[in-house]
Amino acid sequence: HQNHELVPHKGFKLISGTHDPDDVDQIYNLEIRDSDVFVVTYPKSGTIWMQQILLLLESKGDVSAIRQVNNYSNGDLIPWIELNGNRQAFITAPSPRLRVTHLQYQFMPSALSHKGKVIYVARNPKDVLVSYFYFHKVANMLETPKDFNDFFEKFLQGDVFGCSWFDHVKTWHAHKDDMNMLFITYEEMIQDLQSAVERIALFLGKELTDEQLANVVKYSTFNNMRKIPQANYEQVPGDLLSHQQGKFMRKGTVGDWKNHFTVAQNERFDEVFNKEMEDFPLSFLWD
Ligand code: PPS
Repeated sequence: HQNHELVPHKGFKLISGTHDPDDVDQIYNLEIRDSDVFVVTYPKSGTIWMQQILLLLESKGDVSAIRQVNNYSNGDLIPWIELNGNRQAFITAPSPRLRVTHLQYQFMPSALSHKGKVIYVARNPKDVLVSYFYFHKVANMLETPKDFNDFFEKFLQGDVFGCSWFDHVKTWHAHKDDMNMLFITYEEMIQDLQSAVERIALFLGKELTDEQLANVVKYSTFNNMRKIPQANYEQVPGDLLSHQQGKFMRKGTVGDWKNHFTVAQNERFDEVFNKEMEDFPLSFLWD
């Protein structure tokens, strides 16, 4: 029996059995160090890609360190702060404490206003929707969608883990200047990975040689990551991820929504998007 119930919690939704609401509430009070880095994403927006880049920046482009780990979100690598047990481990973990989260802004440590760094990765929501649809088939902690249209509506209503894509991106972006934040998009990374990696390195104060930087870029391309078992969460047991349903590193492109949306769905999506994002200062790349 799989537990995949979404639990409403303070305007957000958590996954029953995966997240403990009381524990999530205590994240707000965590003490923060200058060297802490939080990667924040709405699901399926480039989390593991940023994990790969941060790990490679730490190892100065040496990919062998990554090949030895169980998976990227495990143990002392880059865990999810909101997963059961991980908040406690964060308190005593050695620096640098690199963490990922899908949480909304209101749950984050208040001390981030004056210490530590945040990298927010945003992706155009049509591709997020498609990626998330396929991930719901793989991930057993998430309900398998009835069909694409059913999931399409759930996504637009924010009836998924992560809640509304629109609220997530808008809220985090609105607080961009309240903390030391780098706001970057998946599409910028696709278009020019080298520049993106340079921006990230500069933001984190990492000094690498040109050769080391070139290796960071090389080993964080989709084609190279796709070959790494850990980047596909292959070590995660089958009761959590149904690996036969598809690879975690699925397609890695901009514009796959065009292969999935009907004309009517696209019109409906644009209508919601234009209304929700009317005042949003950034534009997205759709193809
Ligand atoms: S999760 O489950 O929220 O942590 O997923 P997340 O890692 O945020 O997003 C997974 C999608 O990111 C794609 N991905 C990449 N695209 C391009 N280049 C690289 N290097 C890369 N790494 C991961 C991954 O393939 C998922 O997108 P889709 O569209 O499903 O392929």
